[in-house]
Amino acid sequence: MKVLGILGSPRVGGNSDVLLEQALRGAKDAGAEVEKIVLSQKKISGCLDCGRCNEAGVCAIRDDMLEIHQKILEADAIIHSVPVYFWSMTSQMKAYLDRWCAFFDADWNWHKAYSQRMKGKRIGLITVCGDPDVSVAEPILYSFKNTCQFTGLKWMGAVQASASAKGEIDQNEAAKKKAYHLGKKGAASQKDTAKR
Ligand SMILES: Cc1cc2nc3c(=O)[nH]c(=O)nc-3n(C[C@H](O)[C@H](O)[C@H](O)COP(=O)(O)O)c2cc1C
Repeated sequence: MKVLGILGSPRVGGNSDVLLEQALRGAKDAGAEVEKIVLSQKKISGCLDCGRCNEAGVCAIRDDMLEIHQKILEADAIIHSVPVYFWSMTSQMKAYLDRWCAFFDADWNWHKAYSQRMKGKRIGLITVCGDPDVSVAEPILYSFKNTCQFTGLKWMGAVQASASAKGEIDQNEAAKKKAYHLGKKGAASQKDTAKR
């Protein structure tokens, strides 16, 4: 069982990172092999909509996303953690998500090279916002949940938390516990994974 953590905040050691570490600890405690990718430390350009991936199943942009595509294919569950920037996700996370385009054919079905490996993959999300009202992260939830619904990926659920200063979320035991359990869920077998 492999659980991949994707950090969409450029602030390493920040709030999204603290919660992602909790989730990966939960997954590890449940027996999964875990890996974290810090998107801001990678070179990931925006999708060009060139359509080359529709044929070849491989993105035409030669950057670090090619290696991340492989890690996505190998993972059983992927947990994304991202702060709210201007009522949306960070540019790092958006560039990464748009590059998922490479997994599809021209009709937005899984590319035949990947359909077997993409089926049943589980997706989780952690959001952190400065606003005390965690619902400001809803546009990010909408994006990830709809991606799951549209493609048949399994939605594991979301943890939404509020914090501003770097690492402040470390004081929020409830949010850390929820993130830990999301990670555990990521390591559980598919039949144990409930939808939110
Ligand atoms: C460029 C930028 C835009 C932001 N926009 C919002 C926003 O629209 N709503 C909000 O609640 N917080 C916003 N914040 C605050 C962050 O979401 C908050 O500080 C969060 O804890 C950062 O998480 P991190 O430590 O994982 O980077 C913004 C912060 C930055 C740097």
